[in-house]
Amino acid sequence: MSDFLELVKSRRSVRAFGGRAIRRADLELCVEAARYAPSACNSQAWKFIVIDDAEKKQQVAEKAFSGLYGMNAFAREAAAFIAVISEKLKFPAWAGGKLRNTDFRRIDIGIACEHIALQARELGIGTCILGWFDERRLKKIFRVPRGKKIELVIAMGYPAQPKLPEKYLKDKGEVVSFNGYR
Ligand SMILES: Cc1cc2nc3c(=O)[nH]c(=O)nc-3n(C[C@H](O)[C@H](O)[C@H](O)COP(=O)(O)O)c2cc1C
Repeated sequence: MSDFLELVKSRRSVRAFGGRAIRRADLELCVEAARYAPSACNSQAWKFIVIDDAEKKQQVAEKAFSGLYGMNAFAREAAAFIAVISEKLKFPAWAGGKLRNTDFRRIDIGIACEHIALQARELGIGTCILGWFDERRLKKIFRVPRGKKIELVIAMGYPAQPKLPEKYLKDKGEVVSFNGYR
């Protein structure tokens, strides 16, 4: 098996983090991987806020994952976060998305987040992509302008346990077909 497929297969959402800090240089590698992600018309309609400052992290931990969002309370122990904000698409990507009834920004951001997760995995850093967080309070902390949306937050940290969690996968035959829908 290729090294790449090994890497992909060994990535898991990590929900228990050890206390070790992540080096700034490694966080930079992760966002560098994101910057190279493909995007509709190469719009790169994204911004990445990397949160590694202790005080800011504390604010995120307290505000983003409590109350209704307590399901993700594990993320409070993360060593760093990356918040991903959607920006304006290039016109053809925006217009094409309208015609196709799809928002290419979200697709692009999903791909970019996976680049981050895989680069992090390669560095031994665990990630969990989070769609469930208190966006209103996070926007306040980072002074994200009112019209903008924080699409996803990635919690990052060294896994507390070395063992990979089991992963349930649908059968190949259920999700893959060649030359026609099945
Ligand atoms: C867009 C998106 C949003 C997600 N939101 C959450 C979340 O809010 N909380 C959480 O614990 N996991 C979240 N996850 C992680 C998924 O639960 C996880 O990817 C899935 O169960 C498969 O497990 P694996 O990542 O270990 O392969 C999210 C994943 C994606 C791609």
